[in-house]
Amino acid sequence: MSRKPVIAGNWKMFKTVPDALTFVQDIRKTAVGTDHIEVVLCPPFTAVTLMSEGLRGSGIYLGAQDVFWEDKGAFTGEVSPVMLKDAGCGYVIIGHSERRQYFGETDEKVNQKVKAVLGHGLTPIMCVGETLDEREAGVTKKVVRIQTTSGLAGLAPEQAAGMVIAYEPVWAIGTGRTASDEDAQEVIAYIRGIIQEQFGAEAAGNVRILYGGSVKPENTTGLMSKSDIDGALVGGASLEVDSFTEIIKRTSETKR
Ligand code: 13P
Repeated sequence: MSRKPVIAGNWKMFKTVPDALTFVQDIRKTAVGTDHIEVVLCPPFTAVTLMSEGLRGSGIYLGAQDVFWEDKGAFTGEVSPVMLKDAGCGYVIIGHSERRQYFGETDEKVNQKVKAVLGHGLTPIMCVGETLDEREAGVTKKVVRIQTTSGLAGLAPEQAAGMVIAYEPVWAIGTGRTASDEDAQEVIAYIRGIIQEQFGAEAAGNVRILYGGSVKPENTTGLMSKSDIDGALVGGASLEVDSFTEIIKRTSETKR
């Protein structure tokens, strides 16, 4: 089964609107191809609307870094899936470890957000991954199993098939320590096995599962040569056009 690779840039809390628009101008000047690959940029909320205009016709998609599950209402500070869609987003990162760690995001909230986002025709990029303590205690698979099954609870098989899941070991995020190609492949194949158990072979064959955590141009080819790794969720290296486009190029060469 052939799955279209995804390279998503998570800008986290970086870039003002002018910085974001400069990036858009610069990436449009590069000959980065988006035929064999889905490229997604996830800027802060403040830059979404203008980036959506700036990216029109570029083949690059836009995503948000979080969402609330209600469509509208008295929820000060929150942004709804309806608003994200209206602003030009096609993707939404949900359950990033930084949100789990600093903002009280639980598996139940992740599940509510996933359902809300799917309900509006947007694609969730749901993050799972173990902490260093959990890896050292040998419970990586147990942790990602709970996060995956809880996050996807109640979904129809077609909905699970359309998901993007990002395996991001917390100890590899922003640390320069990447999971080895083999470790990343092993956990991602395990996650695909969970999807097969819960939603069947077709969903497992179609769901895209990315690796995230210190992805750089230099480690892209090794990771992307693994059969179950369908792309990357890139933090720091997505902030510069050169490194981000190099990751895209190496991925499309490796996955062709
Ligand atoms: P880094 O690529 O900076 O390690 O961040 C990974 C990440 O958290 C992407 O969501």
